[in-house]
Amino acid sequence: MPRKIIIDTDPGQDDAVAILLALASPEDITLLGITAVAGNVPLELTALNARKVCEVAERPDIKVFAGCDRPLAHSLVTAEHVHGKTGLDGPDLPAPKMPLQDAHAVDFIIETLRSEAPGTVTLCALGPLTNIATAFRKAPDIVERVQEIVLMGGAYFEVGNITPAAEFNIYVDPEAADIVFKSGAPITVMPLDVTHKALVTGPRNDAFRALDSHAGRTVAAWTEFFERFDKEKYGSPGAPLHDPTVIAYLIDPKLFQGRHVNVEIETVSELTRGMTVADWWGVTDRPANAMFMGDLDADGFFDLLTERIGRL
Ligand code: BDR
Ligand code: CA
Repeated sequence: MPRKIIIDTDPGQDDAVAILLALASPEDITLLGITAVAGNVPLELTALNARKVCEVAERPDIKVFAGCDRPLAHSLVTAEHVHGKTGLDGPDLPAPKMPLQDAHAVDFIIETLRSEAPGTVTLCALGPLTNIATAFRKAPDIVERVQEIVLMGGAYFEVGNITPAAEFNIYVDPEAADIVFKSGAPITVMPLDVTHKALVTGPRNDAFRALDSHAGRTVAAWTEFFERFDKEKYGSPGAPLHDPTVIAYLIDPKLFQGRHVNVEIETVSELTRGMTVADWWGVTDRPANAMFMGDLDADGFFDLLTERIGRL
């Protein structure tokens, strides 16, 4: 039975690849809708980009909703320095023809969790957690109906990317992350510790281009764009492809290894705001609240991704 999911996202080239992976995998995943949030770029652009991505996959039927345009407690921090001015720089894509839904993303999340059978909807969070935290605050009854939250965010061994101490998605809205991590819903985390091993090396990018399809060429152009920035920053042979790890986990969890540990979010300190304090070594008696991944089979991940993108 395919898993029913909502993708909450701030596209972003790596978010875009994650959406394509989900749309290419109908035997594993039923995408109930996409909810856009402000993050990599402002909301207007993430809601636009999500629709561009659906049209790359020739799926104008997918419902896309716009959500929160700013974090719960602070002003928005964006990442045009990584993703470009549009958030989806790289290939030239036409303006989407498909409509944005009228409902607010938060209401769509609430209504979906209330109307689907309890424990059958997974929330896949690829950006700041503002929409999900807002839904949990507005409708606490939905928390126990969530099957699982699988999110890209945080870090333990890799510590941070937007600040020395924090990963971007958590840093942008730590108050929202705090609500989600304290919610009691089952959580699986793809931190930088995993995604920094998912490097788009030259041969891996060539494999996307060699698919010789619109989707393959688009993915190659996206990854090439943000690669320039990340390769220079990390001195690595390729850029980390963060968000598709969330979807790959749903398709083949055996690709990942981690520990069920306690994760707390720093919201107070100026210096370490947005840090994910993961008790990886079990040195506290704080209760485990998240499956925190630490390793992945990178070749297996890219084989899966390339095969699936090849279907589009
Ligand atoms: C995360 O931040 C964004 O820039 C990416 O899309 C990813 O979700 C990585 O820190
Ligand atoms: Ca993202």
